[in-house]
Amino acid sequence: MHELRVRSFAKINLFLHIGAKRADGFHDLETLFQTISLHDDIVFRRSSEFRLTCDDPSVPVDERNLVTRVWQALHDEFSIDPVEITLTKRIPAGGGLGGGSSNAAATLLALRKMFGLDLPNARLAEIALGLGSDVPFFLCGGTAYATGRGEELVPLPDIQLRSLLVVLPDVKISTALAFRRLAEMRAAGRAVNGKTAGLDEVRAVAASGTFQAGEMWRNDLEVAAFELESSLALLRHRLDDSGAAFVLMSGSGSTLFASYPDDASLEKGESSLREVVPTFRAAFVSRREALADFA
Ligand code: C5P
Repeated sequence: MHELRVRSFAKINLFLHIGAKRADGFHDLETLFQTISLHDDIVFRRSSEFRLTCDDPSVPVDERNLVTRVWQALHDEFSIDPVEITLTKRIPAGGGLGGGSSNAAATLLALRKMFGLDLPNARLAEIALGLGSDVPFFLCGGTAYATGRGEELVPLPDIQLRSLLVVLPDVKISTALAFRRLAEMRAAGRAVNGKTAGLDEVRAVAASGTFQAGEMWRNDLEVAAFELESSLALLRHRLDDSGAAFVLMSGSGSTLFASYPDDASLEKGESSLREVVPTFRAAFVSRREALADFA
């Protein structure tokens, strides 16, 4: 195979519950991941030397970029020939949408396909976790329940949801900083450890396809992110007042998303926000579609 073009989709966290800090410095968490239609494009071409180019000049293309790190790791292990990789970015960096993690997983899957590598899924997942807590999810895609650092994944049947508005504030939040701020707030009694949901409850609610405000549908990192960036709290209030049925921050922010009861109310909500913040209409993406380019 000489050339491979793939879509590298974003994710949102339909809820994100943060537990205790572990001995390895990471926090135990419980989340419901969902692939959404916002995506980057990546083209892989065999070449005489490795090169990564990106249309967004603010994205590093050296080893700070997980795509480069994946290529180096697979080149070291399997002596694969060099590739030229062209990355077209749409997923904002530092937005809680997993853009870099998605690109890493897409590169793992694409290079395995292109070079026919003997790389079992278990080994792929191991490499993925070494690159970041969210990377293993992108090998699975669709709707998935996750615990541990986010790598203990249970793929769930696809959830259908139309009328989803994704709001992309021009603010970057460091994931490490958000986790640290949450720990400080909890130590000072300014944030509580909420209840976890458990797989059975999540299965039942996911199957019903209804999202509503309530104990399960929360993101524990919101309080920390809103304290780090007060403009996000204001934006969330604005979304709450825009006719949305369900509003939440994704990951460690700064992306917020809202689901509306129907397309008409989404349009109304969108027009009330458009002048203050970039918005994007998105759909949930099924597991089959998320992985279609790597089949
Ligand atoms: O794994 P990843 O590179 O995405 O994590 C970035 C940072 O977020 C970690 O260094 C850690 O500070 C924090 N984190 C955490 N617990 C997790 C995931 C991330 O504390 N489960």
